[in-house]
Amino acid sequence: MHSTLVSTFLLFISLLSLISAKYADLVSPTEQPLATEIDSFAVEHHAEVYHFIAKTYEDNIIIQIRYENDTVAIEGYFTETPALLEDLEGVQKNIYAATVQAGLDGYSEQSLETLQSYRYGTPPEGENHEEKRVLCRPCRECLRDLNNHLEKKTSRCGQFCSVGANCITPGCQRCYYTGGECRWQKSCQIW
Ligand SMILES: *[C@@H]1O[C@H](CO)[C@@H](O)[C@H](O)[C@H]1NC(C)=O
Repeated sequence: MHSTLVSTFLLFISLLSLISAKYADLVSPTEQPLATEIDSFAVEHHAEVYHFIAKTYEDNIIIQIRYENDTVAIEGYFTETPALLEDLEGVQKNIYAATVQAGLDGYSEQSLETLQSYRYGTPPEGENHEEKRVLCRPCRECLRDLNNHLEKKTSRCGQFCSVGANCITPGCQRCYYTGGECRWQKSCQIW
């Protein structure tokens, strides 16, 4: 009985992963091999990594799989596609909503718009990109709260995380970060 339940559960999880989008489905066809490599790496190392996705100053989209210590394990630059943009924007909205819901929005200058205006990389010289920088106030209290929360190692869909192992909702186990100064704004998202 117990093992039937477990295998039903595992089947459920594997079905979920079949229907959910992988980066390879979101990028342009010529870039699929690299995206597939990133997908495989992310699945294999799911528990110990988080995903970082952002627009760059050159209007590409960077996807990095990073370890908890922020070391980049694998990365790729991709041409913007409507599907990639939609994925990024959806998660930005979720992360902002999670921030507001946790009562932490007061700690940063962030609005959804500033979160969305974040760009990865070095700003082109001579241009004023002040408005593209997101400021996050140092926040001892919120970090303490967040660490307490993460020590439980159980974050549901949409809640904050530091790596995939925190995210316990089946099918929502991608710990996702979209840039900006508030490094704690990583959230469990649908994969
Ligand atoms: C970060 O963590 C990864 C995986 O545990 C490890 O391989 C790497 O050496 C670490 N990097 C640093 C700078 O600690």
